[in-house]
Amino acid sequence: MKIITLMNQKGGVGKTTLVLSLAARWHLMGHSVSIVDADPQQSAVFWKKQQAVDSKLAEIDVYSVKLPAEIRGSRNLKSDYVIIDTPGTDKMIVRSALNVSDALLIPVQPSSLDIQASAPSVQTALASEKPTAYLVNRFVSQTQLGKDVMRSLQHTPARVLPKAMGQYQAFPRSIGVGETPSTMFSGSAASRNIEAVGQAVDTWLEACHEEG
Ligand SMILES: Nc1ncnc2c1ncn2[C@@H]1O[C@H](COP(=O)(O)OP(=O)(O)O)[C@@H](O)[C@H]1O
Ligand SMILES: [Mg+2]
Repeated sequence: MKIITLMNQKGGVGKTTLVLSLAARWHLMGHSVSIVDADPQQSAVFWKKQQAVDSKLAEIDVYSVKLPAEIRGSRNLKSDYVIIDTPGTDKMIVRSALNVSDALLIPVQPSSLDIQASAPSVQTALASEKPTAYLVNRFVSQTQLGKDVMRSLQHTPARVLPKAMGQYQAFPRSIGVGETPSTMFSGSAASRNIEAVGQAVDTWLEACHEEG
């Protein structure tokens, strides 16, 4: 069992989008997956409510958690992967999620303002001594900005995953109806993107496991 927390005190960076997209990919690979929604906005819970009963993702359970102490129960879930979605601001909730996790992923958008706003979350994550990695979202490849951002992230103490998420309408469109690009837009650029990102996450988790 692996518990992964998606965190960044900055809102709108793609935490929930990644939680759902990674959950769907692992489920479609044949793993059992649970999502723990620790964000009062309850976006993952909302996603589940939109889902058709015969969805290919129907077996992914979403648990709503409101108290830091409840997060500890994530260890009792009998799933291959447990993914915790966190709020931007509630430090107690985030701390509990860090403590119970095997690895921490920090989505970040390619702008110096976003990187700067993420710095406290990165510090909190690194202080926990759990494996921590940035995952760049809304990356536009072959631009000077993209290159500059990747270069500036290399100078921060957290690892940067070698695959980034691009910006695709397929993310909000599919997530709005309880799906993800992997099920609703199979074969699309967005679904190939999340597959590549997921493989990079798998490789990283494997390396963390061997190092730990
Ligand atoms: N790669 C992407 N392509 C297109 N839209 C995206 C992407 N990532 C996030 N979004 C959109 O940006 C908004 C914020 O993303 P969300 O996952 O809710 O962030 P957070 O959970 O960090 O607040 C949502 O409307 C989401 O659909
Ligand atoms: Mg969210």
